[in-house]
Amino acid sequence: MADEPTAQPSKKLYIETVGCQMNVLDSELVVARLRDDGYVLTDDIDQADAILYNTCSVRQHAEDKIYSALGRIKHLKRKKPELSVGVLGCMAQKDQGSILKRAPHVDVVIGPGQLGRVPELLAKAKADAKPQLAVSLARTAGSREHVTSSFDSYDADREPAVRPSPFQAYLRVMMGCDKFCTYCIVPSVRGPEQSRPPDSIVAEARLLALQGVKEITLIGQTVNSYKHRTPDGRITRLSDLLARLHDIDGIVRIKFITNFPNDMTDDLLQAVRDLPKVSRYIHVPAQSGCDAVLKRMKRMYTAASYDEMLARLRETIPGSSVSSDFIVGFCGETDESFEKTARLLERSRFKNSFIFKYSPRTGTKADGLFADDVPEDVKRRRNHILLDLQTAISLEDNRAFIGREVDVLVEGPSKSTTRKEGWDGPDQMTGRTACDRIVVFPGPESLTGETARVRIDQASAVTLFGGLADGAVERPA
Ligand code: SAH
Ligand code: SF4
Ligand code: F3S
Repeated sequence: MADEPTAQPSKKLYIETVGCQMNVLDSELVVARLRDDGYVLTDDIDQADAILYNTCSVRQHAEDKIYSALGRIKHLKRKKPELSVGVLGCMAQKDQGSILKRAPHVDVVIGPGQLGRVPELLAKAKADAKPQLAVSLARTAGSREHVTSSFDSYDADREPAVRPSPFQAYLRVMMGCDKFCTYCIVPSVRGPEQSRPPDSIVAEARLLALQGVKEITLIGQTVNSYKHRTPDGRITRLSDLLARLHDIDGIVRIKFITNFPNDMTDDLLQAVRDLPKVSRYIHVPAQSGCDAVLKRMKRMYTAASYDEMLARLRETIPGSSVSSDFIVGFCGETDESFEKTARLLERSRFKNSFIFKYSPRTGTKADGLFADDVPEDVKRRRNHILLDLQTAISLEDNRAFIGREVDVLVEGPSKSTTRKEGWDGPDQMTGRTACDRIVVFPGPESLTGETARVRIDQASAVTLFGGLADGAVERPA
C-alpha cells in the first residue's frame, strides 16, 4: 500500500470480500480509509491486527460462508484479544445485532451505508471495549427513509492495490435499487436508487485515468436506469454519461453493469454502437422465461418483451455479446415454466449465464407471499440443465471465433491453469475482447494494459486461445 506512515508501526489488515462489484468497490474504499489510518494490507490472516469481512446477503450460501469464516477465526481472537474483527456490508445491514449474538467475538458490524466510519468505529470498539453497530434505518418497499450514502463524499479516496488490476477500476454511478423484485434482498439492504451527479463521476474517472486506469466499469444495480436531474432541470442519461466519459484521454475501455431489461432504451444502445471505447457487452438478466414466474418475481416484463429487447439490442449493436442471470426453482416454478426458461436461454444465445437456485430471503415480498415449494434436488437438476445448455451455446459461439483476429485489452499474466493446447511456455497472458470474451495467449508480461491483436486458434466454452497476430501490439496514447 502506498504512503505508509513511518512515525508509528503499521497495523495489519486482512479483508475478505464476497458478493457483487458494489462490495469489491466498497472494500477498495474501506482499505483506502484504513490505509490513511495506518493500516497495511496482509494476505496472512494469522498476522492480522484487524480482520474484516465485506459480506453479501443475496443468497443463504453467501451468509453461511461468512458465519463459518467467523467460526474459524475464533481461536485467533482468543490468542490475541486486541485483534479487531468486523462484519461489513449487506449482511451487517440485514442481520444487525444478531451477528453479535451468533459471533460474540465480532467488534464492529457496519452496514453498506456507514462504511465511511470504519476507522472511527474500530477505534471506538477498542476504546470502549464494546462492540459497535452502525447500520441504516430499515427500509420497506416504497420507503425512502433509509440513509444510503456509502460515503459522505463520492470523491472517495481510492486504493489501486485492491483493484481487479492496476489499470481496471470500478466507478459507482448509482446506489441502491427501487425495483423490489420479490425474491431480492438488495433494495432493503442497499436503500433507494440514487443517481450520482455526472460531474462527480467524470471527475473521478479523470482522476482514475491520471492514476493509470485504462478500463472503467460503471456500476449500479440497474445501471441503465441511471438518470440525473440537475436543479435547473437538465437530465443526464447513461448514454450522455458514456459520451462524456468517452472523451477522457487515457481511458480505453468503458463497461457498465448491471442492466434492467425494461430500461434498455435506444439512446443507450446507439451510444454503445457509436462510442468505440464502450465495450459491446451487455449484462441484462432475464431471470426466467415464463410469464407467470416473471410476474411473481415482479420483473415487470414478459418473455416476449425480453425477446423484443434482445432483438433490438442485436440489431443496433453488431458484434455485441449479451449475458444473463437466471433463478431456478423460484416459488411455483413447474416443469412447464422451467421448460420456458430453458427455451428462452436457448434462443437468446447468451455469451454466458449465471444460474442461481432460489434462496428465500427473510424480509422479501416472495418470502412473505409464496411458499419455497420447489425441492432442492429439483432446483439442482434445473440448475445443471441450464448450465449444460449454456455451456454448449458458449462453446459453439466461441468456436466461431477460430481463424479470426481480435483486439484484446491485456489484463496481465493468466492465473488460470487452462493452457492453450500444445503450449508449455511459462508466459501466458490473459485479456478481453471488446465483447468481453476472455482470450489467453502466449506473450510477454510487458503487454499488460496494452491492446494486442490476437489470432484465435482454439476455443473452449469460457476462453478463446490464440497467438499474437504478426507480433502486432497497439500502444494506446
Ligand atoms: N441488480 C441486478 C442483480 C443483483 S443480484 C439485476 O437486477 O440484475 C444478482 C443476481 O442474483 C440476480 O440477477 C438474481 O439472478 C440472483 N438473485 C437475487 N436474489 C436471489 C435469491 N433470493 N435467490 C437466488 N438468486 C437470487
Ligand atoms: Fe434485486 Fe431486482 Fe433490484 Fe436487481 S433489479 S437488485 S434483482 S430488486
Ligand atoms: Fe450481495 Fe449486497 Fe451485492 S446483497 S449481491 S453484496 S448489493
